Amino acid sequence: MRPRIVATRRIAEDAMALLRESGDVWVPEPDRPLPTEELHTAVKGADAVVSTLHDRVDGAFADAAGPQLKVVSTVAVGYDNIDVAALHARDVVVTNTPGVLTDATADLTFGLLLSVTRRLGEGERLLRAREPWRFDLGFLLGTGLQGKTLGIVGLGQIGTAVARRARAFGMRIVYTGRRRAETSVERELDARYVPLDELLCSSDVVSLHCPLTPQTRHLIDAGALAAMKPTAFLINTTRGPVVDEAALAGALGSGVIAGAGLDVFEREPDVHPALLELDNVALAPHLGSATTETRTAMAVLAARNAVAVLRGEEPPTPVRS
Ligand code: GLV
Ligand code: GLV
Repeated sequence: MRPRIVATRRIAEDAMALLRESGDVWVPEPDRPLPTEELHTAVKGADAVVSTLHDRVDGAFADAAGPQLKVVSTVAVGYDNIDVAALHARDVVVTNTPGVLTDATADLTFGLLLSVTRRLGEGERLLRAREPWRFDLGFLLGTGLQGKTLGIVGLGQIGTAVARRARAFGMRIVYTGRRRAETSVERELDARYVPLDELLCSSDVVSLHCPLTPQTRHLIDAGALAAMKPTAFLINTTRGPVVDEAALAGALGSGVIAGAGLDVFEREPDVHPALLELDNVALAPHLGSATTETRTAMAVLAARNAVAVLRGEEPPTPVRS
């Protein structure tokens, strides 16, 4: 019997073609995030599921699919929506898509950083409101990056790619994380490993690149924001709940920090209403990996992962527990 493959969202055609070579593929019509009950019905009898970060993948999901389920392949690097232990306990392989979205996400991080430090959103809103303006030596002055310190929380693949960009802008790098980076990486970036509290009080820009885990939920809370310089900026392109969004809105409104650039939110697709009223925050609707090239590469890697497991082979990028 041909394997049943469920893709919970429509993915790039190249990836669909790979899946179709290996089994009968089901995708929702029309393409939409499936509510839990529909998701559980859809995955029933699946040998492989290609999922996205909208899907809650836990023991109940695996049980709804049935004991023939062999692999859940998420089209994302982050897998905080997946209970990996529950899946591994049922002998289900979990895979994600690291690497292929590193540059796109680092680019977007820098886009938000420049947008907020150079007040691009403010300037564009002023033009679109047809406000009178002219070039003036004191008009919409921002903050330069040359010689400033970038604090990276989580020097993984994306954090490292952000640090490389920052070096090209003349920034100094400090970082924190669970582990110290390899000496060769520290040397290339001239990066210094520091505890989080030192990073917070010494950085001009703090950029978050750690995964969302129980340990990093609300890592940046009111206390962490208060430890930052009042002239500093916070950039979040990882997962919304790493930041206490209400505390951040408060800190931005009262001048505890200078500004923020956010691609992710605590309760997506909702955004804390106070953030929408503030001029010192650059906002993007979770676009980190949103280029045609990257989304295609993510979908193809996810399909290769699923197909490898169906063939009894080691998938290219498994998630280990
Ligand atoms: C997107 O947010 C991802 O984790 O790939
Ligand atoms: C993953 O790609 C990371 O940023 O560590």
